[in-house]
Amino acid sequence: MRDQAENLRIKLMGHAAKTNTKAIAVVSGKGGVGKSNFSLNFSITLSKRGFRVLLFDMDVGMGNLDILMGRSSEKTIVDYLRGSSDLKDIIMNGPEGIKYIGGGTALSQLVEMNRLADLADELDTFLGEYDFLIFDMGAGVNEDSLKFLLSVHEIFVVTTPEPTSIMDAYSTMKYLHLLDPSLPFYIVANRVQSIKEGKETINRLTNVLKKFLDKEPLYLGVLPDDRTVQQAVKRQIPFITFNPKSLISSALEDLVNRYVQQKTQETVSYTSISFVSKLKKFLFER
Ligand SMILES: Nc1ncnc2c1ncn2[C@@H]1O[C@H](COP(=O)(O)OP(=O)(O)O)[C@@H](O)[C@H]1O
Ligand SMILES: [Mg+2]
Repeated sequence: MRDQAENLRIKLMGHAAKTNTKAIAVVSGKGGVGKSNFSLNFSITLSKRGFRVLLFDMDVGMGNLDILMGRSSEKTIVDYLRGSSDLKDIIMNGPEGIKYIGGGTALSQLVEMNRLADLADELDTFLGEYDFLIFDMGAGVNEDSLKFLLSVHEIFVVTTPEPTSIMDAYSTMKYLHLLDPSLPFYIVANRVQSIKEGKETINRLTNVLKKFLDKEPLYLGVLPDDRTVQQAVKRQIPFITFNPKSLISSALEDLVNRYVQQKTQETVSYTSISFVSKLKKFLFER
């Protein structure tokens, strides 16, 4: 099974799979819209398809990916930023073959900002080992997360159908778009009550982006509001593993299928500029 998946992956990614890594940041305007659950289960689903995934909990100091997968990280990004751990020591084994870096639960006052530059350097040497780097971000944007956001290849924006969530998603995209109009936005409507509501949510956001920013976002998918998520969170098992036959799990499988298919049809090499080289540029710019 694993071999089959591996062959598929190599076919899909072509020879470039050996050296090219796609970096994705999962963001939202408002908190609590489902970013962490999405990031984790999306990563697991890609991994099950044979892709090599490194998931970062970038909600530094308030990380909860550990809890969602029922594990605890001995070392987290906070230890790294504090200078007390190497990058390889904070990369943990997650479920279904994913690797992850925990976000830590206490913000350290001692975070050395030039450690971010080290991080970029060290990531460079690891990059070839992964097909995807997925960053689960905290809500909104701050000065540090901005550097990551402007360095990734794709931004996934999660929103719920609530007008407040749509508005905050729009504000976040507007902010990023004005800094880099070439950044692709993929929209996920989460917790929808019906396909119709999902489509309306996506359309509403798409329309304001087109009207006010002349920006065409991409459609990533619609995920239902499903009690399975709450049950899985309580049991600390990713929902895709907790109940693979649930509505939310099959919707996520569809979303990943569509996403992977789109990627194989891409003609432009998305990784022509690596995530790390962009990140370094931002880190040393100021
Ligand atoms: N599709 C969904 N269906 C039902 N509940 C959901 C769904 N997505 C998220 N939730 C609920 O929202 C809570 C917050 O999700 P989380 O992924 O931690 O959000 P964020 O990372 O954006 O803060 C979850 O614990 C769960 O109770
Ligand atoms: Mg979160």
